[in-house]
Amino acid sequence: MSSSKKNLIIDHEGPFQGQKLDCLFSEQEIQARVKELADQISHDLENAKKPPILVGVLNGSLFFMADLMRAMSIETEMDFIKISSYHHTSSTGTVRLVKDISAQITDRDVLIVEDIVDTGLSINFLRNRMLSNAPHSLRVVTFLYKKEVSQLKKEPEYIGFVIPNRFVVGYGLDLDQKYRTLRDIYAFAPDNKQE
Ligand code: IMP
Repeated sequence: MSSSKKNLIIDHEGPFQGQKLDCLFSEQEIQARVKELADQISHDLENAKKPPILVGVLNGSLFFMADLMRAMSIETEMDFIKISSYHHTSSTGTVRLVKDISAQITDRDVLIVEDIVDTGLSINFLRNRMLSNAPHSLRVVTFLYKKEVSQLKKEPEYIGFVIPNRFVVGYGLDLDQKYRTLRDIYAFAPDNKQE
C-alpha cells in the first residue's frame, strides 16, 4: 500500500455520516494505470483510418476520459452519452438513455469509456446501441470492474482495476452527486450497500 493512502470519514448528513471509507487507489496509482491503458489503446488503434471516437459515459467517466485522452499518443475525437440506472448505491435493473451522442459513428473506430462496470447492464445497453450504427470497430475501456458481480458475457477489452463488490467514490464516481472530485478512489465497507 502506498504511503499516500488515507482513509476518509463521511461528514455530510445522511445514512452514511460518520462512516470510514478505505482508500483503494491513490492518485499516483490511478495516473500510472491510466498511462498504461492509454499506451495499450493507442498501440491497438494506431492504424485506424480516421481518428477513433472516444464515447465517454456521463457523468462518472468525465475525469477518466480527460486523463485517458490526453495520455494517448494518437489523435482522437470525443463525444458523450448519458444513461441512468443507479439509485443511491444500487442498480435499478433498467437503463434509461438521458443524452445521446451526436457523432456519426458508422464505419468509425469507437471506444466506450466507462468509469465502472458493476452488473454490466449499462455496458450491454451501450454496446448494443453503438453496434446498431455499424461502427468499424467497437471496444470498451472501464477503469474499474466489479468482476464478481458482473453478468457480462463479453468482458471489456480494457480494464483499469478489478475491484471487490464494494461501493466506491472519487475520480468521477459519486454518491448522490457527492465525492466526485476526490483524486483518490475510496470504498465503503463491504456490508454498507444501502437502498
Ligand atoms: P452497471 O450497469 O450495473 O454495470 O452499473 C454501471 C453504472 O453504475 C456506472 O457507470 C456508475 O454510474 C454506477 N455505479 C456502479 N457501481 C458504482 C460504485 O461503486 N460507485 C459509484 N457508481 C457506481
